[in-house]
Amino acid sequence: MQISLTNKEQFIFKKIGKAADELNVAAFIIGGFVRDKIIGRASKDADIVCIGNGIELANKVAEKLHPQPAVTVFKNFGTAQIKLADIEIEFVGARKESYNFNSRKPFVEPGSLEDDQNRRDFTINALAISLHKDTYGELVDPFNGVKDIENKIIQTPLEPLQTFSDDPLRMMRAIRFAAQLDFRISDTTFAAIQKDAERIKIVSQERITDELNKIMLSPKPSIGLDLMSKSGLMQIILPSMMALHGAEYVDGKGHKDNFYHTLQVIDNISKNTNDLFLRWAALLHDIGKPATKRFEKENGWTFHGHEAVGARMVPSIFSKMKLPLNEKMKFVQELVALHLRPISLTKENITDSAIRRLLFDAGENIDALMMLCEADITSKNQQKVKKYLQNFELVRERMKKVEESDQLRNWQPPITGEIIMQIFNLKPSREVGYIKDAIREAILDGIIENNYQAAHQFMLQKAAELNLYPI
Ligand code: CTP
Repeated sequence: MQISLTNKEQFIFKKIGKAADELNVAAFIIGGFVRDKIIGRASKDADIVCIGNGIELANKVAEKLHPQPAVTVFKNFGTAQIKLADIEIEFVGARKESYNFNSRKPFVEPGSLEDDQNRRDFTINALAISLHKDTYGELVDPFNGVKDIENKIIQTPLEPLQTFSDDPLRMMRAIRFAAQLDFRISDTTFAAIQKDAERIKIVSQERITDELNKIMLSPKPSIGLDLMSKSGLMQIILPSMMALHGAEYVDGKGHKDNFYHTLQVIDNISKNTNDLFLRWAALLHDIGKPATKRFEKENGWTFHGHEAVGARMVPSIFSKMKLPLNEKMKFVQELVALHLRPISLTKENITDSAIRRLLFDAGENIDALMMLCEADITSKNQQKVKKYLQNFELVRERMKKVEESDQLRNWQPPITGEIIMQIFNLKPSREVGYIKDAIREAILDGIIENNYQAAHQFMLQKAAELNLYPI
């Protein structure tokens, strides 16, 4: 197996090998770096394992390579790190780990390379390359990891229930690698995830969400999300997604399976954006559907108001997932709330004011919203899809025209609440809000022009209706 390293990597690994030889310890590159090199995937971080003290080896390497900053030592973990330009190298002594059943805290003791490979998560992550002068570059592959890479298989090196019991996050990691690499999880490994899914509960939410976000950012997130569903992990981690499953039939009328529809929407949007939160908006866009589902004799299945209900669900989902409760969450909430609006603009006889209103409501999120709506078209009928996309193009053109004349992105009405309070000598009150809203609505409806003079005139009229006159 030939592994191609860059000149810089060759140089660094030779030096590490030399330092290890001088200390008389065996050292190996191990884990994700080796895997990614064999796959031909970009890899930045390299883990070095030595049969000895990892911190001592890092210090020895630093004497030769003079990294800036110098060695960073993590005493508690017995590891050390150096950064050389864009490569991060972590040093650790080979170890044997065993875990207590109810805790994530491992009992660690020094071990051989074999011990260290045994305790790793997957065969494809247990590959090591020797850096010793006599065996430099030789691959140590006790679990046929290379074969699994060739066959695109994810499986554990030991009995899967043991590997997962050591660290249940590995169940999410298996799914994450399957999504990132487009690999298949072996039947026995997957059966163990299904059996052990509940154990994910002992893992911190932050680590789980980290893996979920990696799934969300993979080229085709549906691979990972479907595996999460089929393994039972989705039911524990994000149960509201599971409620989207299934199509019900009444009087021979059915609705689409909203879980698989949602997965298709994420895959669609992922072709056009790497923005994690736009992908989250795609994941959650129909999350309000189960709660709003009704069967009406005349109209069949309806989900009235699911966009508003869904938007209201976003904060609790973000909070449970330990996702940021900041403007990112608001962004997702807004897109969920507005995701039906552009579709309604593809109908005939749409007025400029409807377009203006959406531009105002979506503000700077309008492009993201349009992208979500296009991704939301998942009909199997290609003619229909084409027609919708053409209609969206027309909406975009009209938006552009209205935008050019009205400049509504980040728009604020020309008369603010402060101005109203000054002119009429008012304190903050219902009247101020009423006049302010009336001005904004009149501009958005095209009743008055979007300038100070027109707004001022209109304000005087509205105020007079309330018996208010300028001071
Ligand atoms: N590892 C493990 N069990 C875990 C986490 C990590 O056995 N729960 C091992 C694997 O051998 C893995 C290595 O530690 O290859 C490094 O872990 P990490 O940096 O998290 O993952 P990578 O495999 O390098 O992949 P990525 O950088 O994409 O996360």
